[in-house]
Amino acid sequence: MNYRHAFHAGNHADVLKHLIISRIIALLARKEAPFVCLDSHAGLGLYDLKGDEASRTGEWQEGIARLWNADDLPASTDDYFDVLKAMNPDGELRYYPGSPELARQLTRDQDRVLLNEKHPQDGQLLKENMRGDRRVAVHLGEGWHVPRALLPVAEKRALLLIDPPFEQSDELDRCITALNESISRMRQTIVAIWYPIKDERQLKRFYQGLSKSTAPKLLRAELFVHSPDDATRLTGSGLVIANAPWGLEDELKELLPWLAKSLAQSEGNWRLDWLIAE
Ligand SMILES: C[S@@+](CC[C@H](N)C(=O)[O-])C[C@H]1O[C@@H](n2cnc3c(N)ncnc32)[C@H](O)[C@@H]1O
Repeated sequence: MNYRHAFHAGNHADVLKHLIISRIIALLARKEAPFVCLDSHAGLGLYDLKGDEASRTGEWQEGIARLWNADDLPASTDDYFDVLKAMNPDGELRYYPGSPELARQLTRDQDRVLLNEKHPQDGQLLKENMRGDRRVAVHLGEGWHVPRALLPVAEKRALLLIDPPFEQSDELDRCITALNESISRMRQTIVAIWYPIKDERQLKRFYQGLSKSTAPKLLRAELFVHSPDDATRLTGSGLVIANAPWGLEDELKELLPWLAKSLAQSEGNWRLDWLIAE
C-alpha cells in the first residue's frame, strides 16, 4: 500500500468527487428520515494543503485553488464551499476536507457516518481527525469487505463511496463486485464509485461490466482536464452513481460544464449519461 492521498488532496479529481458527494448528501437531507454515509476507502479525513505531501506535488493549485476565489460559483457548490470556508475562517485556503470530513459536516444529528481505511497510519490519523463526533465510526479494515460487513443499514437510506487508490490492476473489477454486493444487500443503496480516466481499453471493459451490473439505474459523470487522446497522464476522472437521487442529473448538467471550463488544463470537457437507465 504505497498510495497516500495527501499528495493528491484538492486536485481536480477530488473537486469533482467531493462536489458530487456534497450534492448527493444535500439531496438525501431534503427528507427528515435519517441516512448513513459509508466510505470504504476513506483516507485521512482532512488535509493540510501547505503540508509536505500536498506541497510536493502542488496538484491542488490546478484544482481547488482555481475555484477558491471564483466569482461565478453555481449555487450547487454552496454546501461544499461552506465546509471549506468553515475550515479556513481567515479566507486563506490551507485546509481541505476529504470525503469523511465532508460527510461529517454535511450530515445531521439523526444521520451516521461509517468510515473504513486499511492503511494503519492513515487509519489512526483518520480516527484522530474524526474524534469527538459520536455519529462517526471508524473501522481499520479491508475496504472491499464493507458492503458485506456494513449493509444493510437500519436507516434504510445509505450512500456508499467506493474510492480505491487504483494501484492494482483488479481494482476496477473489484468496484463492480462491490457494487453488485451492495445492491444485493440493500437494493436502494446509492453507490458512488470514483475512477481515473487514463487507460481507454480498461475503461471500456469497466463500462461494459457496469452496464451488466444489478444496479437499478446508473449515472455516469466525467470531467476531462486534458484531451482524451493524451494517454500518458490522468486526462480526467469520473463517478458512476447507482440509484442517483432525483435532481442530481439536472444539477450536474450545470455543474460539469462549469467545472470543465474552470479546471481545464490543456483541454476541458465533460460527459453525463446513463449506463443503466431506469
Ligand atoms: C483515493 S484515497 C481515498 C480518498 C478519500 N475517499 C477522500 O475522498 O477524501 C484511497 C484510500 O484507500 C486506502 N486503501 C488502499 N487499499 C485499501 C483497501 N484494500 N481497503 C481499504 N482502504 C484501502 C488508501 O490508504 C487511501 O487512503
